[in-house]
Amino acid sequence: MPGIYIHIPFCSQACHYCDFHFSTSLKIKNRVISCINKEIKLKKTYLKDPLIESVYFGGGTPSLLSSKLINKILSSIRSSYKLAQNVEITIEANPEDISKNKIDNWTQMGINRLSLGVQSFRDSDLKYMNRSHNCNQIISALDLLISSKIDNISIDLIYGFPQLTDSFWVDNLNKAIKFNVQHISCYCLTVEKQTPLYHFIKNGTAKPLNPQQGASQFLNSKEILKNNGYIHYEISNFSKPGFESVHNRNYWNRSHYIGIGPSAHSYNGTSRQWNLSNNTKYCESIENNRSYYNVEILSKKNIINEYILTNIRTSNGIDLKSLSSYMNNDEYKRFKNKMSELMQSDFLTIHKDKLLLSEKGMLFADSISEDLFII
Ligand SMILES: C[S@@+](CC[C@H](N)C(=O)[O-])C[C@H]1O[C@@H](n2cnc3c(N)ncnc32)[C@H](O)[C@@H]1O
Ligand code: SF4
Repeated sequence: MPGIYIHIPFCSQACHYCDFHFSTSLKIKNRVISCINKEIKLKKTYLKDPLIESVYFGGGTPSLLSSKLINKILSSIRSSYKLAQNVEITIEANPEDISKNKIDNWTQMGINRLSLGVQSFRDSDLKYMNRSHNCNQIISALDLLISSKIDNISIDLIYGFPQLTDSFWVDNLNKAIKFNVQHISCYCLTVEKQTPLYHFIKNGTAKPLNPQQGASQFLNSKEILKNNGYIHYEISNFSKPGFESVHNRNYWNRSHYIGIGPSAHSYNGTSRQWNLSNNTKYCESIENNRSYYNVEILSKKNIINEYILTNIRTSNGIDLKSLSSYMNNDEYKRFKNKMSELMQSDFLTIHKDKLLLSEKGMLFADSISEDLFII
């Protein structure tokens, strides 16, 4: 089920924790979008006859583009690729960009899913994160969205930072649930190197994070969202039945995808490639028909380890039968030994030939995957 990911590398303000690729200077915005439209054509033959099931505008902040520019990109996609009849088209949006006019334009051009970057319903948390919106703007945006034609709305929330007590976190979850949105993503704050938050913690102007707090708030999310009809289909993602994100599912299923725009990644089953993470260099290369990406040919080991890393995070888990068919006897024997050790320590369980993380295991997904990797 192939998908297209479009990276819009602009934000109005830099959040203190974010290390995604974006620029707060919009000077070359139109130039980048022209190059994105050119790249859409250039990648036409990257996958063989793909029927596109998901188009995802991510970033950065796609919602800060005018509807005209978003429409231009969608028109380029439609003229170069065949879209499935029920294609999921998502746009990531920040609350301050939402207006009735924009929502109407987006629905008219076929956008049928919206992911809103709420992060917290408390103004002091939004200040700590250096978000560009306040709580009133979140409420206005959600009021407009839930009365609009878009019936697949997702909210992003962040937990695990010092001033967010468990009771504040539960309050945030309950506020999100009250809007009866179809999908909620809960991310545990990670301190990424090179971000302002990393430096604030290093120089003592911000408190370090407490992993115990992250673990406890993860368990809060699991329990509260489950009790309110949300399925926990991946470590950070919850949805009402039937509203799992096609874009996310494709990524974990290792479906092939075409990534367009600065820093975007593409995957075709045998190789992975990633575009230059610099807006000007990306444009210069695209405009002058020079190479604008790096490529890595994936070895069998890369493919198996990526399968383990992505699938262990999902509620479908790792299919042991199909995994064993990719490994040689020694590899599978080592994998089974590691698996038994981790099961004995209550990090993993097996259900119908599927290997799953236990509740305890979900708190250590990355290190458990590493233990299971073939070497
Ligand atoms: C990169 S943003 C793009 C969408 C949009 N600009 C927004 O902020 O919502 C996607 C999601 O990643 C989350 N995110 C980025 N860096 C993170 C970090 N270090 N820890 C946890 N979540 C993070 C953001 O908060 C957001 O919900
Ligand atoms: S979290 Fe979103 S809005 Fe904030 S800097 Fe990152 S991409 Fe931009």
